[in-house]
Amino acid sequence: MADRISVLYTEEEITARIRELGEQISKDYEGRSVHIIAILKGATFFACELAKRITVPVTLDFMSVSSYGDSTVSSGIVKINKDLDEPIDGKDVIVVEDIVDTGNTLSYLLDNLEKRGASSVKLCALLNKPERRLKDVNVDYTGFIIPDAFVVGYGLDYAQKYRNLPYIGIVET
Ligand code: IMP
Ligand code: MG
Repeated sequence: MADRISVLYTEEEITARIRELGEQISKDYEGRSVHIIAILKGATFFACELAKRITVPVTLDFMSVSSYGDSTVSSGIVKINKDLDEPIDGKDVIVVEDIVDTGNTLSYLLDNLEKRGASSVKLCALLNKPERRLKDVNVDYTGFIIPDAFVVGYGLDYAQKYRNLPYIGIVET
């Protein structure tokens, strides 16, 4: 049976918000460069659109971590499946993630990256579900704060499906 998905944010709303985030980041990093670390796979759609809206020089790297398997419950155990291609020492890093939920993944990842000698490490998440937080994570740039619902689209998946939806929707269960 097909899942029922109701629209939470339209493509237009997401585009407008990403434009604002890009402007904010461009202002905050004036005179510097930004090294974006996008977390595979969910953040790639967001990271590409965001990078295009940043007017200071941008470099990009990718990392793949997992804490979930295909279940919708966080295990709290984080595994690095693909590490960075380049060192980050001396760089101003912005970690770009699709969503901060329990905070397990980001809390591990930010700790890990902070030990690698970056000049600064900030976090930019398209979505933030603060009600579900188990670990304290400071989100420096948030696209949208959302209620406790399972969402898909714009990179976010449900068992690997729906990443390609151009909007963000709630899966009705
Ligand atoms: P955390 O470690 O619990 O914060 O989980 C972060 C990861 O869980 C995200 O990068 C997503 O891959 C996944 N996730 C959490 N909530 C959702 C959701 O509502 N839809 C799709 N994926 C989610
Ligand atoms: Mg995922």
